[in-house]
Amino acid sequence: MSSPRRQNTKKYGNAADFATAALPPAPVAPADPVGHALAGANVVGGSGAMFDAIAERYDLLNRLMTFGIDQRWRRLAVESLQLPPNAKVLDLATGTGDLALMATRLLPTCTVVGIDPSMGMLAVGLTKVKAAGLTKRIDLRHGDACQLDIPDQFVDGVTMGFGIRNVPNRAKALREIARVLKPGARVCILEATEPTGVFGAGARFHLRVVVPRIGALLARAPQYRYLQQSVAAFPAPHRFGEIMESSGLKVLEIRKLLFGVAHLFVATPMGFDSGEGGT
Ligand SMILES: C[S@@+](CC[C@H](N)C(=O)[O-])C[C@H]1O[C@@H](n2cnc3c(N)ncnc32)[C@H](O)[C@@H]1O
Repeated sequence: MSSPRRQNTKKYGNAADFATAALPPAPVAPADPVGHALAGANVVGGSGAMFDAIAERYDLLNRLMTFGIDQRWRRLAVESLQLPPNAKVLDLATGTGDLALMATRLLPTCTVVGIDPSMGMLAVGLTKVKAAGLTKRIDLRHGDACQLDIPDQFVDGVTMGFGIRNVPNRAKALREIARVLKPGARVCILEATEPTGVFGAGARFHLRVVVPRIGALLARAPQYRYLQQSVAAFPAPHRFGEIMESSGLKVLEIRKLLFGVAHLFVATPMGFDSGEGGT
């Protein structure tokens, strides 16, 4: 039986319309489709407010703290989705839009809707999208990964970069991802994790000591202490994989990146992957 949301699929049109029409219109529709939800939106959930405080410096600090490797990881993440032409991509916890921008760079025909509860992060992202001339292909929206106003089985791929750690009810967000993905489509979740082993010692020092200091110095923001604490509190990769599986996602790959400083989790909705013989 199809759900009420499913019946709405028609109004969202084809892939080319996704970035401008996939989500309900803002109360007052501006000429420019990107940023509809930036005007006058209320925070509906998530922990976006904390990111408002660091939004302006977020990109710079990201590059400094990861020595630019974060962009290589985003590329890997997008590639892992194996998207078809004209793909409709949903970027959850889009923040300043780096993953959304990476997707449009790698896939010239895709469209992306990016969702995030932080108005500050979205505002920075919007500036970048406009500067790149991508307002017709990337639509940044205010929202919560746990409550997606998107029809069932609607998108060709979901990306989520360094975002799931910040969502209090991770299983709920994962269930939403499983719901909106088309059968056989993939989600890639990139997340910072506690580096392990002898080689990880340097990386652990970097995360625990260097990162909070750079953050405090450049962003004057205690939020970078949160980064280290939230990474330490994040489940071990295999455990997070189990949470994905119990939330309706079949894990295809868990890839360790740079001594475990980050992991890439790739999954597909349960029951539809080729290994299970689904449609
Ligand atoms: C570390 S930033 C990652 C931004 C971007 N994806 C990137 O690759 O740089 C984490 C983002 O998660 C967002 N976030 C927090 N709670 C969320 C939720 N419930 N749903 C969606 N995004 C959320 C924050 O607002 C923040 O922008």
